[in-house]
Amino acid sequence: MVDIYRTTYDEKGAGHYVAPRLAYAYLNIGLHDASRQIVDELMKESPNDWRTWFLHWWLRGTEEQDRKSRRVNSSPHQPRPTMISPALTHRVFPTAEAASEALADEIAELIRSRAAEGRQVVLGLATGSTPIRLYAALVHLHRQGLSFANVVTFNLDEYLGIERSHEESYWNFMHFSLFDHIDVPPENIHIPPGTTPDEELDAACAAYENAIREAGGIDLQVLGIGHNGHIGFNEPSSPPNTRTRVMQLNERTIRDAANAFGGAENVPKRAITMGVGTILDARRIVLLAFGESKAGIVQRALTEEISANLPATYLQNHPDVTLYLDQAAAPR
Ligand code: F6R
Repeated sequence: MVDIYRTTYDEKGAGHYVAPRLAYAYLNIGLHDASRQIVDELMKESPNDWRTWFLHWWLRGTEEQDRKSRRVNSSPHQPRPTMISPALTHRVFPTAEAASEALADEIAELIRSRAAEGRQVVLGLATGSTPIRLYAALVHLHRQGLSFANVVTFNLDEYLGIERSHEESYWNFMHFSLFDHIDVPPENIHIPPGTTPDEELDAACAAYENAIREAGGIDLQVLGIGHNGHIGFNEPSSPPNTRTRVMQLNERTIRDAANAFGGAENVPKRAITMGVGTILDARRIVLLAFGESKAGIVQRALTEEISANLPATYLQNHPDVTLYLDQAAAPR
């Protein structure tokens, strides 16, 4: 599976994804069919790889360029706003794609309005399979003219002990899915440093917190949710006031990542993550959850009492959180 993507290495050992780069190059010069052909081949050969899915959604966006309006509100299926927890609003969209496009539009509006005022926007970003369509939609908006020049980003987390060039590093994921395709200034991108030696970890975590503070705090934080209710890598039993720190990954989280790493034994056992308190400091939070497998934990996050056993319940304490769900993940 890996060979399709990583066939050349630079002098630092960083891999280059040849097939996706080719697909991207073809797309840029208007050879959409050639691009689609490569992606279709990848879909056949590596249907479970997130990179395949990112390319698929990204191309689909381009192929649908003629759609009159990209706003979900123009869809015949209106999202249903519903309240279960008085604090947590959720919106159910017909598909994960519609939810992702709605969030991409919200982010685009924020970026544009801040640009008009000559101000920056600070985005908190997540990784994993859930935000892939969001990033594809943002790349698509960039190709239609949206500039990310005034955007500063902070990622939620990074595995500890793997190089940036590792194909499962979040650094790699973010560059492949988003940063390589938009004009965000590289110096505005922040991802927790996963290769920090143990004796420097406290300082690295404190520096991450400082950088967020110096940027003026996070305007909009994108979250996914783990099957065990984690947000970022704040595993069950995380206290609410935690800041960026090292977290021991929980057995369920390691199991969920096992496939991508070619076995649970290869999954890093620790990560650096923004703390619960860091996340709750964001001015607005949008949590994305898609698919049947998330329905149970979403229901619990919406209905259970706030507890460290289910870190996503802490969101009930935040004044501006919305869950964007597809039908399958929606509470029954
Ligand atoms: C990733 C992160 C995690 C994921 C969660 C869901 O940066 O912080 O909390 O959002 O594990 O992962 P997926 O989307 O792969 O189901």
